[in-house]
Amino acid sequence: AVAAPFAVRMPIPPVQKPIASVANTDFYVVSTRKAQVEILPGTRTEVLTYDGLFPGPTFRVKTGRLAVIAHSNHLDMPTAVHVHGGHTPSSSDGFPTDVLDPGKSRIYSYPNKQRAATLWYHDHAHHMEAEHVFRGLAGFFLIDDPAQAELRLPTGNYDIPIMLRDARFADDASLIFEHDDFQFRNTILVNGKPQPYFPVAARKYRLRFVNASNLRTFTLRLGNDAEVAQIASDGGLLAGPTPIRSWSLTPGERVEIVVDFGAFPVGSQVFLDDAVAGPVLRFDVNRAAADTSRVPDRLSTIPALPAATKERAFTLNFNPSTGQFLINGQQFDAERVDTEIKRNTTEVWTVTNGDTLFGIPHNFHPHLVQFRVLARNGQPPAPGEAGVKDTISVGPGETVRLQATFGPYLGRYVYHCHMIDHSASGMMAQMKIVP
Ligand code: C2O
Ligand code: CU
Repeated sequence: AVAAPFAVRMPIPPVQKPIASVANTDFYVVSTRKAQVEILPGTRTEVLTYDGLFPGPTFRVKTGRLAVIAHSNHLDMPTAVHVHGGHTPSSSDGFPTDVLDPGKSRIYSYPNKQRAATLWYHDHAHHMEAEHVFRGLAGFFLIDDPAQAELRLPTGNYDIPIMLRDARFADDASLIFEHDDFQFRNTILVNGKPQPYFPVAARKYRLRFVNASNLRTFTLRLGNDAEVAQIASDGGLLAGPTPIRSWSLTPGERVEIVVDFGAFPVGSQVFLDDAVAGPVLRFDVNRAAADTSRVPDRLSTIPALPAATKERAFTLNFNPSTGQFLINGQQFDAERVDTEIKRNTTEVWTVTNGDTLFGIPHNFHPHLVQFRVLARNGQPPAPGEAGVKDTISVGPGETVRLQATFGPYLGRYVYHCHMIDHSASGMMAQMKIVP
């Protein structure tokens, strides 16, 4: 099944409303269930959803306000809900074997005591996360900080989350999932639609990109090569805006930019192009609009790094003779603690992609923390990677050095390659934060 390009409008997933709010807490309910949704125009596709939506509803929460989410599982398999990038107590972090069984409900609590940032949530059930995310279990989780209002970045209708991913469809429009068949996943979905268009006013927009693909990296640019300002990475605002003409996201990563569509005449079309997939989204500049937003030269203070007290090294590699994806030579074992870390201590992790032979790309994502990139292949990080991050690309033969403070919560968490066909096949390990 192939869709005509730019025939459908890009939807914006609706913001989930709390069912109740008290003092410092908002309560939400969500049900996980199958649904038939229109992805390719004129046909229906069975997908896995949060609340029937593909992608799921957007959670828009505030820094420091507790979000309590009651999830109920109406699927016939277990799920585990993970907020990617969240500083979340272990019991709510979606540890792969800490599942929500079919027919059951449970409460996940998110303190959101962290910087404002574009996070996302997705399934993490042991060995099933790759298929579950591929079939639809993903959505935005945006943390806002009212203190950032004074920056006067574009807000409201001019603050647009954009989830990119690839997919593979059969002729009858059903989704086909097979592990590692990335070469066949050649339909790009933008907020759940193939090659959509999106009407914009001739003014500045904040665009929040999430790469929710299982394996695909996007390298994006505007079709006319216009310069844009990168304002944020995974963990929120950069110190200052960085002018860029292209930006890459490996699976799980986020990049935020401000684009001034006021630079284009009303009536023009501006394409968002991927280096491999070609045009994935078309912006139609269809009206004039007032614009009092701006991109100030200083956006945020990146917190200073406390001194590290421990160094560790991790190697990601594929073993061609066994077909296993490994971290430090081992597959994930939910019963084995690989790394024990004293709470609130700071460590430097050196992560190497050992797959030079077959040139397999990987990336790296620890739960619980946001980190800083100290170096990539011995060089200082590029400006777009110099802020706060939780997911980092590690190309074949590359080495990245990361620094993070592990806390404030105790318990077990995973770290893994976020090419989730890899993590679902074992490229994941366990850390335990201890007193
Ligand atoms: Cu998106 Cu284990 O994470
Ligand atoms: Cu990998």
